[in-house]
Amino acid sequence: MGSPSSLSLVLLFVLLVSLGVAVQHCHGGETSSFVRKVEKSIDMPLDSDVFRVPAGYNAPQQVHITQGDLNGRAVIVSWVTQDEPGSSEVLYGTSEKKLKFSTKGKVTHYTYYNYTSGFIHHCTLRNLKHDTKYYYKIGIGYTTRQFSFTTPPKVGPDVPYTFGLIGDLGQTYDSNQTLTHYEKNPVKGQTVLFVGDLCYADTYPNHNNVRWDTWGRFVERCTAYQPWIWTTGNHEIDFAPEIGETVPFKPFTHRYHVPYRASGSTAPFWYSIKRASAHIIVLASYSAYGKYTPQYNWLEAEFPKVNRTETPWLIVLMHSPWYNSYNYHYMEGESMRVMYEPWFVKYKVDVVFAGHVHAYERSERVSNVAYNIVNGLCMPVPDPSAPVYITIGDGGNIEGLANNMTQPQPKYSAYREASFGHATFDIKNKTHAYYAWHRNQDGYAVEADKMWFFNRFWNAKDEQSHSS
Ligand SMILES: *[C@@H]1O[C@H](CO)[C@@H](O)[C@H](O)[C@H]1NC(C)=O
Ligand SMILES: *[C@@H]1O[C@H](CO)[C@@H](O)[C@H](O)[C@H]1NC(C)=O
Ligand SMILES: *[C@@H]1O[C@H](CO)[C@@H](O)[C@H](O)[C@H]1NC(C)=O
Ligand SMILES: *[C@@H]1O[C@H](CO)[C@@H](O)[C@H](O)[C@H]1NC(C)=O
Ligand SMILES: *[C@@H]1O[C@H](CO)[C@@H](O)[C@H](O)[C@H]1NC(C)=O
Ligand SMILES: [Fe+2]
Repeated sequence: MGSPSSLSLVLLFVLLVSLGVAVQHCHGGETSSFVRKVEKSIDMPLDSDVFRVPAGYNAPQQVHITQGDLNGRAVIVSWVTQDEPGSSEVLYGTSEKKLKFSTKGKVTHYTYYNYTSGFIHHCTLRNLKHDTKYYYKIGIGYTTRQFSFTTPPKVGPDVPYTFGLIGDLGQTYDSNQTLTHYEKNPVKGQTVLFVGDLCYADTYPNHNNVRWDTWGRFVERCTAYQPWIWTTGNHEIDFAPEIGETVPFKPFTHRYHVPYRASGSTAPFWYSIKRASAHIIVLASYSAYGKYTPQYNWLEAEFPKVNRTETPWLIVLMHSPWYNSYNYHYMEGESMRVMYEPWFVKYKVDVVFAGHVHAYERSERVSNVAYNIVNGLCMPVPDPSAPVYITIGDGGNIEGLANNMTQPQPKYSAYREASFGHATFDIKNKTHAYYAWHRNQDGYAVEADKMWFFNRFWNAKDEQSHSS
């Protein structure tokens, strides 16, 4: 004892042990060291090119489409006219020159404090052929505008389909970059799964609803041509009793229609659709979800209806994430997790996409369902029947990036990075789907985080992921 060489051996041992501990902490996952700009995101000014009102008297604006039924044979077309109600008719057909069909929709409007909306039209086109390009024209009687969309293939087990993932978009210069990156991504998304928080009008005095209109015009270049599947976020609540606005979700429900009745739901905040080989369940973080509530009863009945032979991929969308290791909105999703996580494991949900936290994070397959009030089993554990949880709230809105993370990174967190971006979920067949996350600072083709998903029902093997 005391000789210089044995002392250095002891020191070396201590050093190795502490290194080992450090390495074990890192095994929780990867926190990206990517360095990005730190300036705050600012909203594009009202006179920006992306907010331009289309020319012509009463020209339709803010055009957007979404799925209009359970199986993808209907499309809801929505738009706003500003000067007068005009017509809610849609002319459509499979030939660009000759629109053989026509359907009439309905027009609505609302007031919010001292704001009066334009005339908001919704029209559902039904009995469409699968996998077919349709052209549609609106603004009949005055200025008309024509757009197109492609219906999804018939629902079935091995139907390839590519979903885009965008959340918390807002209307800043960064939002515009996110949308541009989604459009220019060489992997072409066919439908956007939007995880909530659309326009952030509620960050303005009196929730200035003019910002709902500018947002509608901004995203039209995408939403007029492919469906966006809507999830409600906290910025859609617009509950403001101080200015007399006591009906939650008023602007959202007037402007964005979803096919909730088709899945037996009683409110447009939770519902499901089948599209190609996916069964997609949309949940509402800001509607009651406790036991005996409408949402709870609906979800309890919904999971047993999922037929993995018909739709192998089971995807859930919600706004507030359950597994989030940022110091923002920390544990806000916890009470819903406690209510619903056992079902997610039992029914082998493949992936859950959430937003709310303005950053990116992907989890390992973990569950935390063993706990009861006395057994002390309250830690997330690896679970091959559990979904991967992805936070994709990094669309680029005015509130800026969430960059304060809990330390050390928890074991269940596979990858996390505070950058703006979007993702794609590219279903190949009933066993394989390729997922990739793109950050806005990179070239359009660069995949910053990627993973082959193996279907939980048909191919529940371990997966590997790669980040760069
Ligand atoms: C609404 O009220 C705010 C202030 O309370 C005012 O600045 C704004 O111009 C008003 N807008 C309209 C459309 O009257
Ligand atoms: C938004 O992005 C589009 C497409 O990249 C571009 O043409 C447009 O000028 C951008 N607008 C603003 C205000 O950044
Ligand atoms: C599930 O879907 C398959 C394929 O469409 C069908 O043959 C089967 O009858 C369905 N099962 C149930 C229980 O509906
Ligand atoms: C990060 O969040 C923690 C927990 O809320 C807080 O204590 C800490 O001050 C924050 N750090 C920074 C740099 O803001
Ligand atoms: C499913 O897709 C994966 C990835 O493209 C491929 O390796 C696999 O062979 C496909 N399975 C079948 C049955 O075609
Ligand atoms: Fe949010």
